[in-house]
Amino acid sequence: MMRTVLFVCLGNICRSPAAEGVLKRMLADRGYDGQIRVDSAGTIGIHAGRAADSRMIAAAAERGYSLTSKARQIVRQDVTAFDRIIAMDRENYHNIMKLSPGVAKHVKMLSDYLDDDWPRDVPDPYYGGAEGFATVLDMLEAACPRIIEDLIAQN
Ligand code: 4NP
Repeated sequence: MMRTVLFVCLGNICRSPAAEGVLKRMLADRGYDGQIRVDSAGTIGIHAGRAADSRMIAAAAERGYSLTSKARQIVRQDVTAFDRIIAMDRENYHNIMKLSPGVAKHVKMLSDYLDDDWPRDVPDPYYGGAEGFATVLDMLEAACPRIIEDLIAQN
């Protein structure tokens, strides 16, 4: 059975499209192509239909990731449709919970897949400089191997 994971941030143009791109590449590199469906969404819809932020695309491209997703807003049905929902920060997490109360078990934070010396939230890079985009990628590259283990182990 196909496993599914949805990454969620605020606008779906920076952090969660990058998460989608990093995880897809790592899955392909490990031979899991086509076994896990990876998607992303934002808690707000103002950027819906748009490609990822050009600064995020450029930072990802420097490390060999291609970001191809188009932004969309999360809907209530997503929360039950995916095997794993992975929020980038606590605000995203609480907004997912508000959308679909009582389904907390499979809703995670990215930092659940990181050691405690990383920040709890993936910092929103939208209003900052280039280093913010690099930090996002650092956190995603550290977390995605554990996300793969989690998805593969799951029954
Ligand atoms: P993201 O970044 O949640 O990582 O996609 C943001 C994108 C857009 C906005 C905020 C954060 N915004 O306010 O438009």
